[in-house]
Amino acid sequence: MLRQIHHILAFVCAVHAAAAREINFEALFGPHVSDDTEIASAGSDNFSSVLSHHWTLWKAPKFQGAIKPATEADVQKIVKLATKNNISFLATNNGHGTNTKYGITPVDLNINLRNLNSVAVDGKKNTVTIGGGTVLGEVTEKIYAAGKELPTGNAVCVGMVGLTIGGGVGVQTGTHGLTLDALLSVRLVTWTGDVITVSKKRNADLFWAIKGAGANFGIITEATYELYDHTNHGQVLYNRYTFPASANRSIFELMATYDGDNLPAPMSYIPQIRFNRETNLPEILLLIVYFGSKEQAQPHIDKVLALKPVAATLNYGPQPPMFEFLSVGLCSTDYRNHFHVGTKRTDPATYEEIFGDMVEFYKAHPGYNGVVILQRESTRYALSRPVHESVYPWRDIGTFALMLNRWDPTTVSDADLESIADTVMGKIQKTSGFKTRHVYINYDYGTETLAEIYGAKNLNRLSKLKGEWDPHNKFGRGNPIPLLGKVKASSYGRFVENGRADDLRK
Ligand SMILES: Cc1cc2nc3c(=O)[nH]c(=O)nc-3n(C[C@H](O)[C@H](O)[C@H](O)COP(=O)(O)OP(=O)(O)OC[C@H]3O[C@@H](n4cnc5c(N)ncnc54)[C@H](O)[C@@H]3O)c2cc1C
Ligand SMILES: *[C@@H]1O[C@H](CO)[C@@H](O)[C@H](O)[C@H]1NC(C)=O
Ligand SMILES: *[C@@H]1O[C@H](CO)[C@@H](O)[C@H](O)[C@H]1NC(C)=O
Ligand SMILES: *[C@@H]1O[C@H](CO)[C@@H](O)[C@H](O)[C@H]1NC(C)=O
Repeated sequence: MLRQIHHILAFVCAVHAAAAREINFEALFGPHVSDDTEIASAGSDNFSSVLSHHWTLWKAPKFQGAIKPATEADVQKIVKLATKNNISFLATNNGHGTNTKYGITPVDLNINLRNLNSVAVDGKKNTVTIGGGTVLGEVTEKIYAAGKELPTGNAVCVGMVGLTIGGGVGVQTGTHGLTLDALLSVRLVTWTGDVITVSKKRNADLFWAIKGAGANFGIITEATYELYDHTNHGQVLYNRYTFPASANRSIFELMATYDGDNLPAPMSYIPQIRFNRETNLPEILLLIVYFGSKEQAQPHIDKVLALKPVAATLNYGPQPPMFEFLSVGLCSTDYRNHFHVGTKRTDPATYEEIFGDMVEFYKAHPGYNGVVILQRESTRYALSRPVHESVYPWRDIGTFALMLNRWDPTTVSDADLESIADTVMGKIQKTSGFKTRHVYINYDYGTETLAEIYGAKNLNRLSKLKGEWDPHNKFGRGNPIPLLGKVKASSYGRFVENGRADDLRK
């Protein structure tokens, strides 16, 4: 019976694929965009260079064509023409979106924003304006050189706007808040191809929505942020310690002492569970980052040293090399995926247990090289910001628990990975301190509910804005916000209660 269903499904898919219309992207867009705009169809020699980079080989999104606009005016024309010709599109920058729906739902056209890549510091206004196709490392380098800083994420390869419109968390969250807290305004190309300014003063409702649900409303061609002066004269301490498996419990116990408001704002405490394939032993790496002097960090370093690390890399210096250091292992492309849940409480017993689960999995699957990262940064600043300023619902997440999988697809199956991820993330969720799952949209997998992503209380207002700004659902493929008008009030109520997107589609 099951096999029959598979056959029928395969047949339906084949018919569907055959029915997909042929679009001549070059002919359609070429005459209307600037000469520097590159266009290619799937199968052509130039396709891979026009298409956006994607962070993993696993379930990479599939497109029929790709276009790489050179200017904002090009983006406007592309969106106008695509809308007019009923061509579905997804605008991407450096392709670090973790949501697997991108790879499953076919989309006609990739709009690769990477050429909209610029960083302009305005020293007088104390702001930086970046293009919609800029990556984190490009921003942090330039502003650092200008004597400034900005709370960003940790990996130099992620798109800066993509990061911002979901939240933006990293080692400076404790000192300056989320990246979106520093956002002052954006220029946004809407589904009609018009470009508008969105800020606290202009389209203020939309500005609220952009800060946490930004991928749903248009293409951001430019973003302006407030800058901060260098903390600690631009010097930062960043150490990495290696521990044997036997130290696991004490590392988690030390972490628990920093729960709540006990972690100093300038400090990050980031343990990472891994398996060393050279020594054939599990181990824990512990990353300590401190935006302060060595003396200020020392009491905390002493606590780490008391746990007897077997190796250490010690650094103290300017910020840009720190971002490179934090990015090691994060920015190369192979088979990868990503599971996540947010927590506000550290339960050492749970972490000891999942460490055991991981060790078993590593031993059973020699082709597996994933890591579990507990990204703990101070919530002090983020929690001090008024909640009503942005959609972003989870300022109370203290630790972003991440499972970053890397594997050899010939020996490890998707089902194996899902199973270990369910076990590990399920256990972490149970003792997370949150009754319902708190999921950071930028670390999503694609199966979470909209309430887990946007917060149930925000859904009505988001749906209203969706109807106003994207009435035909052109944007937001990862976590599309449903239109209010298209949903029966009764099912919407149920949806808000259960937070299940599926209820809406019935
Ligand atoms: C290895 C890795 C490390 C990461 N590290 C961090 C971290 O330290 N901190 C953190 O907060 N997050 C981190 N992230 C998550 C990251 O912030 C998100 O994946 C972000 O969406 C990446 O942006 P991108 O442009 O690279 O991705 P893309 O896949 O190109 O885009 C992601 C989404 O953003 C939208 N988007 C991108 N640019 C624009 C634009 N200009 N206008 C409108 N929509 C746009 C896209 O349409 C898409 O929906 C990490 C992710 C990975 C895979
Ligand atoms: C491919 O790109 C090259 C260099 O950018 C360009 O000269 C050539 O015309 C392109 N070919 C096609 C088929 O678009
Ligand atoms: C637009 O395309 C979608 C799918 O690609 C199709 O379902 C829909 O009927 C099309 N609409 C029009 C007006 O052609
Ligand atoms: C974790 O630490 C505890 C307590 O020291 C120890 O009993 C346990 O064996 C360790 N786990 C692993 C997988 O080594």
